[in-house]
Amino acid sequence: MAVDLLLGLQWGDEGKGKIVDVLTQKYDIIARFQGGPNAGHTLEFNGIKHVLHTIPSGIFHESAINIVGNGVVIDPVIFKKEIDALEKFNIDLKNKLLISRKAHLILPTHRLLDAASEASKGKAKIGSTLKGIGPTYMDKTGRNGLRVGDIELDDFETRYKSLRDKHEEMISHYNIEIQYNLSELEAEFFEAIRTLKSLQFIDSEEYIHQAIKNGKKILAEGAQGSLLDIDFGTYPFVTSSNTTAAGACTGLGVAPTKIGEVLGIFKAYTTRVGSGPFPTELFDEDGETMGRVGREFGATTGRKRRCGWLDLVALKYAVQINGVTQLMMMKADVLSGFETLKVCTAYNYKGKEISHLPYNIEEQNVTPIYTELKGWAQDLTSIKDDSQLPQELLDYITFLEKELETPITLVSVGPDRTQTIMR
Ligand code: GDP
Ligand code: IMO
Ligand code: MG
Repeated sequence: MAVDLLLGLQWGDEGKGKIVDVLTQKYDIIARFQGGPNAGHTLEFNGIKHVLHTIPSGIFHESAINIVGNGVVIDPVIFKKEIDALEKFNIDLKNKLLISRKAHLILPTHRLLDAASEASKGKAKIGSTLKGIGPTYMDKTGRNGLRVGDIELDDFETRYKSLRDKHEEMISHYNIEIQYNLSELEAEFFEAIRTLKSLQFIDSEEYIHQAIKNGKKILAEGAQGSLLDIDFGTYPFVTSSNTTAAGACTGLGVAPTKIGEVLGIFKAYTTRVGSGPFPTELFDEDGETMGRVGREFGATTGRKRRCGWLDLVALKYAVQINGVTQLMMMKADVLSGFETLKVCTAYNYKGKEISHLPYNIEEQNVTPIYTELKGWAQDLTSIKDDSQLPQELLDYITFLEKELETPITLVSVGPDRTQTIMR
């Protein structure tokens, strides 16, 4: 059996959590392959809203195994909070939630380094979630990191202290005043390590390899979005991992030949949280309306998300990089009531019209060129079937499918599990 991927195609928060939850009934295993608690994946069903940061979004289905892969970075403190929040739902986490020994650990000092780095950048700050993601991946590639498997070693504490000391030394070079009480942070960290230790650690690449061999159906759940990818995103305003399809291979130990469907998920408009270029960003009433109706506030930091029209130049790029085989369009309901919808189909780049994503998409280089489509007035939130969708929305979908040369197989019309139309 092949491994299917579900990836965000924009700047994150496309609705990955909701769709992984919806699709889990078709899979035996859900596996996160990159990112960490910078992610906030929202699921809604039976009137309850859940936000997951590190735990895969298949956790609420009884039959599915959920794996935190080697490419993920885990903050034990946040992880423990997630586990505690799940307690009342009586989920058999000991058997259903498996953690790769090769996943790296976020230390309290990684978070402090993140804060110091951002503060030192002033106006040029990334707008990081400050969860220690960048410094942890730096330690991983710098070959200094601590991994989940190290927790099982006798000298874990010594290894921890050695890395912590290195971090404190680095923090002192920033010339930035950060207030912190390390002994409190460490007490919390080691308590959380005990919780983590109560779960099953696995050699996840071997586990997944065997699962594939035994015909299990696996869905890899991405975090962030393609435009936040460390290589292909809007660098330096990106995250520190490969959020694109290749990241699933390295983040789980799955060979490219074992990848099946690539499900690309996007909002019917665009949002971004944090700093960095955003060609179709709106600063007017339309942008305000998208933010208000779409409740566009970050699931991890609560920050207001920036909103704008759909950017097909960027979306095409993401479809290509990932080899998307099916598209899923989220939040169509938020666009109800707009008389006209704009879709960016090309850029004016330094005076020339181009239709690919160039190196430099800062405001001074790029002006979006829009195609206008007719909007619809109907409320979509209780529609269950494709045939009931307003003609203007069907025209919008057809237009996008043609431009992106990929079928849109799912349309989402609300945050709840049930507000999902399969096509
Ligand atoms: P993720 O990070 O990709 O999992 O997405 P987030 O959970 O950060 O953000 C998506 C937000 O949109 C959440 O608040 C979801 O509950 C909500 N949402 C998902 N799909 C829809 C939809 O079709 N319509 C509306 N109105 N909200 C949605
Ligand atoms: P999900 O999985 C949206 C953004 C941050 C910042 C940049 C770097 O919920 O889609 P980092 O904390 O990685 O150093 O932040 O990336 N960012 C996200 N934006 N959704 C996310 O995850 C994000 N994870 C990171 O806002 O601009
Ligand atoms: Mg999110």
